[in-house]
Amino acid sequence: MSMIFTNGVCYGNDNGLLALLKGYSALIPPLHLKFPVQCSFTEVHTFLLHQVLLDQHLEQYPPSGRYQHSFWKWAIEHLERMDKDSDEEDGEIDTRIYDRYLFLMSGSIGPGAPPPDSYMTYYWKPSSSLGSANRNSHETITLLESRTTIESGTTGLRTWYASFVLASYLIVNADIIRDQTVLELGCGSGFLGIIVATIQQKFNERHQSRRQPLPAVLLTDVNAAVLSRCRDNIQLRCNQSSNHPNITFSTLDWFDALSLPGENVMKAFLSKANVGVVIGADVVFDPILVPPLVATLRLALSFESTRMVVVALTVRNEQTLAHFVTEAGEQSSTFVVW
Ligand SMILES: C[S@@+](CC[C@H](N)C(=O)[O-])C[C@H]1O[C@@H](n2cnc3c(N)ncnc32)[C@H](O)[C@@H]1O
Repeated sequence: MSMIFTNGVCYGNDNGLLALLKGYSALIPPLHLKFPVQCSFTEVHTFLLHQVLLDQHLEQYPPSGRYQHSFWKWAIEHLERMDKDSDEEDGEIDTRIYDRYLFLMSGSIGPGAPPPDSYMTYYWKPSSSLGSANRNSHETITLLESRTTIESGTTGLRTWYASFVLASYLIVNADIIRDQTVLELGCGSGFLGIIVATIQQKFNERHQSRRQPLPAVLLTDVNAAVLSRCRDNIQLRCNQSSNHPNITFSTLDWFDALSLPGENVMKAFLSKANVGVVIGADVVFDPILVPPLVATLRLALSFESTRMVVVALTVRNEQTLAHFVTEAGEQSSTFVVW
């Protein structure tokens, strides 16, 4: 399967400039970015000024000040070096670039402080079945995210790599969810919810004549702060998901599936929801979660409407993964695990 998202950056036939924009938008450390030395000073400078520094979307949903500070320091160093080596006349760096850097310097926090939350913008290309008119056109997804692994005792305030993998799968196999109610377990800050909602909306736009009410997207998590962040991100005006009329946010704790009263509550939720596809990304990060998660999936699969469960996992511990795959594999053949 080709990856549409990798480390938060979308790769394709990018020239170096686009990769720079994508890296900046997804807060990739300058150390891991390539300065496009194959371009002329004027090309890079114009791009950085107009497509990055003065871009309207990035002005409204900017990377954190700390990240911008490191990015512009790096970019200015490269531009100055390029300028020195170039034969181009008028090769001066625009004062707006220096001004931004100086402004960021004055507000910079000590290196010991935890990194602040930041907007992150990811780029992706809809597959041809979703009606991508232009091979070079990109869609964006923007989220406010934590920049630490665990914040306020939860891992759900940032997007994890497994979400990029599962998103790539869903974009390529969009038919799976086009007219299905999708239930996400452990939805975190909303990345996959935005993808699912956008895919469904694009299908509807593409097939105007057969337009149907959009199926539901049910985003669930155990943590109230995570659900609240998820809702905020889904509803950001720049995300197409903000116009999806059928997205709900609910508390759903997998441990409920292990007790009788909890199981009944979950059954009531599922029987009302008429779920077609269940998804989950990076939901097996602790062995203690395997029995409750598998019990939850078993319950979901006991409903006739549930056609498929698709789970993407990061292997942090081989034994935990093996435990999950064995337990889950016993439940159904319609289980897809990465
Ligand atoms: C590693 S994060 C993954 C978040 C998101 N799916 C992603 O890939 O970015 C794990 C998520 O599972 C949720 N979670 C952990 N235990 C849970 C439980 N018992 N019931 C429901 N959700 C749970 C956390 O709150 C968190 O949002």
